[in-house]
Amino acid sequence: MKKTISKILLSLVIPFGVSHVIAQTAVYDLSCEYRKNPIGIDISNPRLSWKLKSEKDNIQQTAYEIRVADNKNDLYNNKNLIWSSGKVNTSQSILIDYNGPSLESGQRVYWQVRVWDQNNKKGPWSEVAFWESGIMDKSAWNKASWISAQNEGKIEKSLPSQYYRKEFTLNKKIKRARIYSTALGVYMLYINGKRIGDDYFAPGWTSYNKRIQYQTYDITNILSKDNAIGVIVGDGWYRGRLAWQNKRAIYGNRLGFIACIDIEYNDNTSEKFYTDSTWKYSYGPIISSDIYNGEVYDYNKELTGWNVYGYDETKWQNVDILNNQKNHLIATVTDLPREIMELSPEKIFKTPKKELVIDLGQNMVGMAKVKIKGNKGDTVKISYAEVLDKNGNFYTANLRSAKATDCIILKDNKEITFQPHFTFHGFRYIKIEGLKYIPEKDDIRGIVIHSPMERTGYFTCSDSLVNQLQSNIEWGQRDNFLDVPTDCPQRDERLGWTGDAQVFSMTAAYNFNVATFYTKWLQDLSLDQKENGKVPHIVPNVLEGAGSTAWSDAAIIVPWTVYRIYGDKRILVNQYESMKKWVEYMEHRAGKKYLWQNDYHFGDWLAYASTRSDYTGATTEKDLIANAYFRYSSLLLSRIAMIIGKTDDSKRWLDLSENVKKAFINEYVTPSGRLVSNTQTAYLLALSFDLLPEHLKKNAAKYLAKDVNKFKHLTTGFVGTPLLCSTLSEIGRDDLAFMLLMRKKYPSWLYPVTMGATTIWERWDGIKPDGTFQTIGMNSFNHYSYGAIGEWMYNRIAGICLNPEFPAYKRFTLNPHVGGGLTYARGEFESMHGKIVSDWKVEDNNFIYTVTIPANTSADVILPTDNENDITVNNKKIIQIKNIKYYKENNNIKLYLMSGNYIFKIQNFNK
Ligand code: BGC
Repeated sequence: MKKTISKILLSLVIPFGVSHVIAQTAVYDLSCEYRKNPIGIDISNPRLSWKLKSEKDNIQQTAYEIRVADNKNDLYNNKNLIWSSGKVNTSQSILIDYNGPSLESGQRVYWQVRVWDQNNKKGPWSEVAFWESGIMDKSAWNKASWISAQNEGKIEKSLPSQYYRKEFTLNKKIKRARIYSTALGVYMLYINGKRIGDDYFAPGWTSYNKRIQYQTYDITNILSKDNAIGVIVGDGWYRGRLAWQNKRAIYGNRLGFIACIDIEYNDNTSEKFYTDSTWKYSYGPIISSDIYNGEVYDYNKELTGWNVYGYDETKWQNVDILNNQKNHLIATVTDLPREIMELSPEKIFKTPKKELVIDLGQNMVGMAKVKIKGNKGDTVKISYAEVLDKNGNFYTANLRSAKATDCIILKDNKEITFQPHFTFHGFRYIKIEGLKYIPEKDDIRGIVIHSPMERTGYFTCSDSLVNQLQSNIEWGQRDNFLDVPTDCPQRDERLGWTGDAQVFSMTAAYNFNVATFYTKWLQDLSLDQKENGKVPHIVPNVLEGAGSTAWSDAAIIVPWTVYRIYGDKRILVNQYESMKKWVEYMEHRAGKKYLWQNDYHFGDWLAYASTRSDYTGATTEKDLIANAYFRYSSLLLSRIAMIIGKTDDSKRWLDLSENVKKAFINEYVTPSGRLVSNTQTAYLLALSFDLLPEHLKKNAAKYLAKDVNKFKHLTTGFVGTPLLCSTLSEIGRDDLAFMLLMRKKYPSWLYPVTMGATTIWERWDGIKPDGTFQTIGMNSFNHYSYGAIGEWMYNRIAGICLNPEFPAYKRFTLNPHVGGGLTYARGEFESMHGKIVSDWKVEDNNFIYTVTIPANTSADVILPTDNENDITVNNKKIIQIKNIKYYKENNNIKLYLMSGNYIFKIQNFNK
């Protein structure tokens, strides 16, 4: 987490290895609020970003001009512009505020940008991109009604999903049509028999009492003269089982749906339709649907043709109108989960218990899609499991009370293809009961569902186990980024635990673009924050607990990550009040002594525990952790306040954090630099959160190294683990960091890999070496927290590092490290400015290092040699390239480079 601030090099930036193509600097990858051509944006001044490309090296933007118009022609003719930024002299190419007049609801605008390069040479106008606003004036919802089935009373179990329908006829030619819709529950929308959009679990999970997202769908090409709209609404997070004690209907007893259909005709007239009391409802084949328990689907109850025009709806009933609020409806902040890929079975087999089980080869999240056949009345049951037990039998005890089963009731002997609608499962194995034959591999698919984040990072190296670890980290992320960042996706939990999210956020941001995903979640975090500043342990909050250290600090650390990775200042501004409330809460609890004690905390959750009589495990005093985080969060808040221009506040938080540091030293640090909890986690916190006096840092570092050496393994839990390797590297002990990474015995990152894991486990020993399991109370095989090592793999092994002074990799550091017997590593990261590559290999005593520095960025490159005579760049000796400035620092050669592709070769590398 903590990085030393690299010294700013003032060397001249000079082209070399330049290709002599004369090309203009062009612009690509235009985005608005991180999305390409989004519709349904309800932000009045959305932010625009682009990337630069050129066939030349050393490209810097020195100015830009944006123009925005109602249509492409006006844009091309530079006429009737809605907004033009004029030429703005800046190198900023990301997250530029649209500063034109406010848009109306549903207004689409087109935009282009062009840039000037470092020679003041103007590039061509970019391709045209657009964004379209959502509902900008909430009163537009006034005419729409929340519709629902008749009151179903107290909800004690999952009730059948509700089906709604309405027909309407349009007599003119349609130019453009949108539907804005949302539900109390989760819904699927159909028009004229076609599914609209590919979202799953719309409207996503927010703190529903405070806000519900509506979706915007383009239905221009779906509508015809006679139309039918059909909707299915299931329980979902709103009314389904959630959290513990069989709790249901946390947000409300009644499901509902609301929509506004907005149609523009070719003759420029327009018409709007709303949900109202003329809609009808019925019940159909979804007998029950529950996130934890699964879905029951009865083919005998199918409503054939219910969502097409002309259906006989005489048996359907009139909907009820609900009085629920509407002014909390907001546009969708992050794209909703959808089908991302399909997995085919690796194996179909009978277990020793003679059960029919299918192995998909990967612990995944989503559902099975099955093509099956049987007889009328047959029930086919599909259950889900993450692992087999040591005898090879299907194992579900760790799902606790989640039934995680889909049931299909057949109506005849025709083949059907089924996949559930409103449930998801975390699984690698599927058990099928009720089939009279063994299905073919082609009949079964695992449908992988998660929030559709852009893939931004790749890490590979010469060690196949480490590559599997990277894959497990990625899958842990896919599987737990289903609209909210969850702890796990399979048992009766699946909640937005703040601590887990916090420790994993940086790793997450390497692998995928998580900007909008966290933006949405953090908005709920502020809304659910307690009056007194305590941040709930889960968000959206459906439990009681709040205020544990390291969990509540997500309020500061996650937006800070988003700022650092994407340069998003707005998130700091928007979350500032929430951050401040949390720090003030700690300040209040700590009192005049600046020492926060005796409150409830989770501590270094699931840290290494031992049965050895001379070592009882690595328990770090919870109050020590609390005060360390208090220091860290108040220090970050001071930086954040400075960044958003609140200088007085900044000073206040800095003073506070200094006082906390003093109190910490007084209470927890001995005069020789020992900590009262002699654990890896305690030293990691003290070292990486700057909690030690200068003269004791060396000693503390020694104690940390000594502890790691003593055990030869990690002893950390959720809190210490993300800091472990990075701190060891920081104190010059890469050797120990690599030793921990490469260790294969329990406890380590690779132990689960050697046991066949395909995701990150909740516990270091979810499956013990003898094949038995950890206690069923808490043994998820898909918890991403320990995957926080990913951050170090990208930034230390591959060497792609943020420069703390330059968010969004505007200027970054390339600093690869060889160790652990690796002979090769490659990191790729699609930054907001373009793709960064850092790729090294050791071959015949040469270190060959290939890098890409995107246009409009620069990088400090640190090469692992102190002998400049050994270095060539793009085949030229570095000492002979006059205009390259380099210098020596800590046994390395350091240089500062502008954009381009470079291949370095260091000879005599292993001498
Ligand atoms: C969750 C965690 C969470 C923890 C907090 C567990 O039940 O699965 O990941 O952070 O509780 O104590």
